[in-house]
Amino acid sequence: MARTPWKIEWSDALSMENRQVDAEHQHFIRLVNELNEAISDQRRDRANVERIMVLILEDALTHFAHEELLFCETAYPGAEEHTQRHTELIGIFQQALKDIHHTESSRRWVEIGLTIKDLLVEHVVNEDRQYISYLRNNSDNTAPKGN
Ligand SMILES: [Fe+2]
Ligand SMILES: [Fe+2]
Repeated sequence: MARTPWKIEWSDALSMENRQVDAEHQHFIRLVNELNEAISDQRRDRANVERIMVLILEDALTHFAHEELLFCETAYPGAEEHTQRHTELIGIFQQALKDIHHTESSRRWVEIGLTIKDLLVEHVVNEDRQYISYLRNNSDNTAPKGN
C-alpha cells in the first residue's frame, strides 16, 4: 500500500499507557491528519484549512492545560521546561494560522502541515513520554495496561 508521507498512524510507539492522555493525543493526531489531508486537496479550500488549524490550536490549549494540571498534581520536576515548550508550540501554531491566511503558496502550506505533524510527534515521543514515566512511578493515576 502506498504510504502517505504526512499521515500519522497511531502505534504503540506513541502510546503513553495512560488512557486519557492517549485519547487526547489520538484526537490531536486525527486533527493534524485532517489538516494535511485538506492541504493536499486539489481544491485548496483555505477556509477549511484555517478551520482545522483553529481546531488544532483550541485542542492544543485544552490538552496542554490538562498536562500542566497533571504536573502540578504530581509535582513533576520538569514542569517548567515542559510548560515552556507548550507555550512555544502554541506560538508556532498561531503563526501557522497567520501564514496559511496570508500565503497563496501551496508549497508553503505543505511545509506548514508537515512541520506541525513533526512537532507533534516529536513532542509526544520525547517530552510527553518523560512526564508520563514520572507519573507512572509517582502516582496511581495511570490506567491499567490491558492486553
Ligand atoms: Fe501531550
Ligand atoms: Fe506535552
